[in-house]
Amino acid sequence: MSDNHNTIDDLMLENRKFPPSAQFKRQALVAGTELYDEAAEDYQGFWARQAADLLTWSTDWNTICEWNLPYAKWFLGGQLNVSYNCLDRHVEAGRGDKVAFYWEGEPGDARVLTYADLLDEVQRLANALKDLGVQRGDRVNIYLPMIPEAAVAMLACARIGAAHSVVFGGFSAQSLSDRINDAEAKVLITADGGHRRGEVFPLKPAADDALVSAPTIEHVIVVRRGGNDVEMVTGRDHWYHDLIAAADPVCPAEPMDAEQLLFLLYTSGTTGKPKGIMHTTGGYLTQVAFTHKYVFDLHPDTDVFWCTADVGWVTGHSYIVYGPLANGATSVMYEGVPNFPGNDRLWAIIEKYKVTKFYTAPTAIRTFMKWGAAEPEKHDLSSLRVLGSVGEPINPEAWMWYHEHIGAGTCPVVDTWWQTETGGIMISPLPGATTTKPGSATFPLPGIGVEVVDDSGKRVEQGGGYLTLTQPWPGMLRGIWGDPQRYFDTYWSRYEGRYFAGDGCKLDDEGYLWLLGRVDDVMNVSGHRISTTEVESALVSHPAVAEAAVVGALDDTTGQAIIAYVTLRGGSDVDIAELRDHVATEIGAIAKPKTIYFTADLPKTRSGKIMRRLLRDVAEGRNLGDTTTLADASVVGELQRRAAEATVED
Ligand code: PRX
Repeated sequence: MSDNHNTIDDLMLENRKFPPSAQFKRQALVAGTELYDEAAEDYQGFWARQAADLLTWSTDWNTICEWNLPYAKWFLGGQLNVSYNCLDRHVEAGRGDKVAFYWEGEPGDARVLTYADLLDEVQRLANALKDLGVQRGDRVNIYLPMIPEAAVAMLACARIGAAHSVVFGGFSAQSLSDRINDAEAKVLITADGGHRRGEVFPLKPAADDALVSAPTIEHVIVVRRGGNDVEMVTGRDHWYHDLIAAADPVCPAEPMDAEQLLFLLYTSGTTGKPKGIMHTTGGYLTQVAFTHKYVFDLHPDTDVFWCTADVGWVTGHSYIVYGPLANGATSVMYEGVPNFPGNDRLWAIIEKYKVTKFYTAPTAIRTFMKWGAAEPEKHDLSSLRVLGSVGEPINPEAWMWYHEHIGAGTCPVVDTWWQTETGGIMISPLPGATTTKPGSATFPLPGIGVEVVDDSGKRVEQGGGYLTLTQPWPGMLRGIWGDPQRYFDTYWSRYEGRYFAGDGCKLDDEGYLWLLGRVDDVMNVSGHRISTTEVESALVSHPAVAEAAVVGALDDTTGQAIIAYVTLRGGSDVDIAELRDHVATEIGAIAKPKTIYFTADLPKTRSGKIMRRLLRDVAEGRNLGDTTTLADASVVGELQRRAAEATVED
């Protein structure tokens, strides 16, 4: 926790408070403590009521929750189909013409998809998948740009009980094949390419590279989006539009057990190997529907919801696809970057679609701040009602800027803490009920148990410690695919009986929670989790590199920046640009180190352990504390000199 002392001190100076306005309260779904009170009485009963109110079940459950630490099962005996809940039931209720997605392509093209449109395409793709041999329990990989077909693909899998594993389109061929192989997926759904920053980025060629070493894939479905040339392997590769056109249009939604695997989503841990986080059907859908409805104070008839995340991350799964569609909401989905063709693209989209609820990341907000308030001022943002933040701690300045310049000083800001593992939002204000403080995610949601504990596991009433979750929740991960031991070790071994989130957290004198970032070797770069070990392994896989140490250093825009210290093999020579590109090839562009220092030695303890904390201190320009455990103290002096001289590579 020592790395976070400055943050703790700064945060505690933040005394501003923002109660919801009387006007907001009047129209809010929740303006008092009723949900909290109900959940405090009986959290399992509370979640059961949500599951019954928000979802349609084909068979009722007989057990709300079976808790055999560290494994929870929710709504046992119950059956439902996620795709039915997201599509059919809205169409059956006469809302087929309601817009599910306003999709905006980066070049300026647009599509409007109603619930009926989505249902039609999902049924066809589901049948096409079946025709290609996909069965209940199989895994399907999805590697797509931000196009509606991504949601269609996920829902088509859910419809037939195949688990999807979405891989972010920015990940490299190597990352894709690692994930395919770990999941032993049968089918890959990809695209020729997508649009980003004014150019077409190819995806199919990366998929082809991945498939050289991913033998379980039998078929590849390719969406045409980029228009770039691609090679199609006869018998293996199929154009999406051909399959859709030929497919049987009717594919009844089959009931699935509540605990049927819905998806795997890979996330970085503290080792080099990403973990396949497992999410199941009934509990997950309950939690995302509940949180989407209440955290964003959803009024489905009038709201236009926009979550700017990519579907490749959990935020996109839960708040672009499953939560909004389960609630019958209308969402915006945008393909590209926020600064194409100009720095006001997002504000133009908000104006165009009259977005009411906007959900983005602090790193984006800090970038908007740099671009200046004149950009949003060019547009009418008066439709906005609630603003959300996710992915990393939001600093009070960014919170205030968001509140004032995007929310006109009137929209409640909901800072939502959660993780890939939690499935849905866990800590957040309810916008009509909670008095917010800039920089604090405030309180656990109803039905969620949170405690901050110290090193020994003792509960902290006020002050800093580690965030733990004290009771099972419906959207919780059900394990790590193929690695139960790692599941136990990572989350359940540090504090007996509690889930260890890996985040530092401070409780203030009014019980507000202030999240302080990761306390393990996981970096958070622009809201994305990247493990130091993963980047180190990528660097060391370059023939010129003997050894590498990677740390996340504080960065004004991206939260943390990746700083690498590299020792070259004797006689080798390589330039920094080549090494950065090598990491992009191994993992993806998001993992490129911002700065690489070459050094003859790395600071190590006498037992040979690299002292990452020291390297972080060097990277952040801090005075070093105790270095007596170092094997060779002169190494650090040299690194500090270099850091002081360094010019940052872009
Ligand atoms: O460190 C926390 C940070 O993001 C981590 C989870 O990352 P990921 O699984 O990629 O999911 C991101 C989107 C849910 C957490 O362990 N984090 C997420 N939201 C917040 C946050 N840190 C502080 N405040 C938040 N609101």
